[in-house]
Amino acid sequence: MTPNPIIVALDFESASEAEALVARLGNRVNFYKVGMELYASAGMAFVRRLRDQGKDVFLDLKFYDIPETVRRAVCRVVPSGARFLTVHGSNTVMEAAAEARGASNLKLLAVTVLTSFDRDDIRDLGYPCEVSDLVDLRVRKALASGMNGVVASPLDAARVRSLAGPDLLIVTPGVRSAGSAKGDQKRVATPAEAIRDGADYVVMGRQITRALDPAGEVERVLEELAGA
Ligand code: C5P
Repeated sequence: MTPNPIIVALDFESASEAEALVARLGNRVNFYKVGMELYASAGMAFVRRLRDQGKDVFLDLKFYDIPETVRRAVCRVVPSGARFLTVHGSNTVMEAAAEARGASNLKLLAVTVLTSFDRDDIRDLGYPCEVSDLVDLRVRKALASGMNGVVASPLDAARVRSLAGPDLLIVTPGVRSAGSAKGDQKRVATPAEAIRDGADYVVMGRQITRALDPAGEVERVLEELAGA
């Protein structure tokens, strides 16, 4: 198991709120996800501030555009020192991103199928198959396109791991400890189940960020993982 597999999702509207949480968690958490909301308000300057504090950053911007635009945008992310970046799992997008990453330390994660999509949503896009078939197809394409990992539902982690082998990183959002509020996440597993099924990292948002005692919550999850 990755020594501390928790990535905390900083889903806040301002840098000051996000920074307050990072300060409260101290050295219990070393990896943070910056998604669209915080990026829209605080941008790369915030990513660099986290890096200056020695934190790893998962930049979850899910790039999806023409190859030239993806290449140029990834070139701008590389010098920020972000460790993970998400791109959509389409061939041309992944290939352009891989080319721009070059030999840098940036790890590219492909979004296979958004976990909020069900069979009707992918049919609406023109894929006449099950969601799991599309996830598997995208995992194969991610491997062939030089991706370092995928973002997957914890409920797909075991299948993705057996399909992809040991080297592909699997990062799973949508995890909740038993008894925690699920919010709008529907298909969830516990952090321990996700790791047991082959995930390398679990992304945790509200269970930690909205807890009365976020630091205590992280410690409880780490204990849960150690005991699993
Ligand atoms: O609060 P919660 O733990 O549900 O937060 C989950 C985080 O993971 C959010 O930042 C959300 O955007 C992200 N995410 C997700 N499902 C995906 C991809 C990302 O929940 N498929």
